Amino acid sequence: MNGPRKVHIKSFGCQMNVYDSNRMADTLAAEGFTETARVEDADLVILNTCHIREKAADKVYSELGRIRVLKQAGARDGRRVTIAVAGCVAQAEGKEIIRRAPAVDLVFGPQSYHRLPALLARAESEGSVVDTEFPVEDKFDLLRAPSAAAIRARGVSAFVTVQEGCDKFCAFCVVPYTRGAEHSRPVAQIIAEVERLADAGVREIALIGQNVNAYHGETSDGRPSTLGRLLARIAEVPGIARLRYTTSHPCDMEDSLIAAHRDLPSLMPYLHLPVQSGSDRILAAMNRRHTRANYLDVIARMRAVRPDIAFSSDFIVGFPDEGEDDFAATLTLVDEVGYAGAFSFKYSPRPGTPAADMPHQTPEVVKSERLYRLQDAIDRHQAAFSVQCVGRTFDVLLQKTGRHPGQIVGRSPYLQPVVVTAPTSMIGQIAAVRVTEASANSLLGALADAPRNAGPHGATSRAEPMLAEG
Ligand code: SAH
Ligand code: SF4
Ligand code: F3S
Repeated sequence: MNGPRKVHIKSFGCQMNVYDSNRMADTLAAEGFTETARVEDADLVILNTCHIREKAADKVYSELGRIRVLKQAGARDGRRVTIAVAGCVAQAEGKEIIRRAPAVDLVFGPQSYHRLPALLARAESEGSVVDTEFPVEDKFDLLRAPSAAAIRARGVSAFVTVQEGCDKFCAFCVVPYTRGAEHSRPVAQIIAEVERLADAGVREIALIGQNVNAYHGETSDGRPSTLGRLLARIAEVPGIARLRYTTSHPCDMEDSLIAAHRDLPSLMPYLHLPVQSGSDRILAAMNRRHTRANYLDVIARMRAVRPDIAFSSDFIVGFPDEGEDDFAATLTLVDEVGYAGAFSFKYSPRPGTPAADMPHQTPEVVKSERLYRLQDAIDRHQAAFSVQCVGRTFDVLLQKTGRHPGQIVGRSPYLQPVVVTAPTSMIGQIAAVRVTEASANSLLGALADAPRNAGPHGATSRAEPMLAEG
């Protein structure tokens, strides 16, 4: 039983949570761990948790109940199973997790991932280790880079964290507490990571951060960059054909970022721009720092430079004291913007956030009913957007094999899954695809001509403008 030790990592959260899981796997690979998709086979189980809503946080404890059984079974066979809880619940709850679930050996927050090998050694000798410190050192310098094989296994589209934490303190949100203050990675460090990914075949980079457009990482001359300038620099990396970024705050859509949408063909015409509510009164209570009009102004400025751009958003229904007229304003905003898609959530009071203590909490039945109506409106717009795509030709990044033999699934510029009949040898290429059919969550298409820019140095062409065809 002396083969390589196996680690199973399960992500519960956002894109950064997934990115972090990969970086933990890379760091553990250097310690001789291999990854396993089967939790029963693991010597080390890491739950990478999310604290954003109560439901997300609760999942951890039900999962821990199941893993405790595996740990007990392992012990009976003379095999040690170590259980670790990472991520935002770990940061928020710390040692409380071990009190509630004593089978847990190690609890560590998002700012401690680079210390994982040392923490693990301590947990295995001492048991019950908790690390939720915010470090002075740069964790990104200390986390191990992925191998070329690991990059290839993760596919041709990759996330890269460029910014972490948030200083906005929306009244409902735990992120400023779990991820800490805003911090941007230096440009050179990001470029080195992107080049490594591109060398291993990655074609699309999604820059991620809790407040990604607040990016202000250091350039080589010591001055701060902007997200717009960073995107322009990454667009020059050979092999990178597509760029995206998420999640943006409406107050931080600075001029160089808007210019990037005008100037960079590889920057996809699709922007996730959470608004949360269409009511100025609720936006103020949420401490969003923008009005409905400010938000619509940003949308108009983006459309002026990139007429084919489409938008998605996040919404919260049932924030404390949200009246029917406030909610009606959210519905009219959805119609006014005409989103290509959006996420919507019932407000979930989070311990330690100001909104959790506000009077006039909205009853659950009202939240459910509003969520239903909002999702109906969003679905209508999403369906209209998809139907509008039929008959048009898009550049599609072919990403993986589909459910049926001979099918490949790719992504349109608008992140819609596109199913197309094509050889697997085309995975990683950007092909012109004519959309033939739209279903609820995906498009069906056919290759329109020979693959374009298959070489590593090609730049993608623009998608056709959304408004060009009737
Ligand atoms: N970094 C992200 C935030 C992640 S949370 C960002 O700024 O967009 C993603 C979405 O979860 C938020 O946009 C919000 O719509 C929702 N959300 C955050 N806190 C919530 C809460 N307490 N209840 C319900 N939804 C919440
Ligand atoms: Fe949370 Fe608001 Fe920061 Fe987004 S901008 S992470 S919603 S506090
Ligand atoms: Fe969840 Fe933390 Fe991401 S709370 S949404 S995993 S930043």
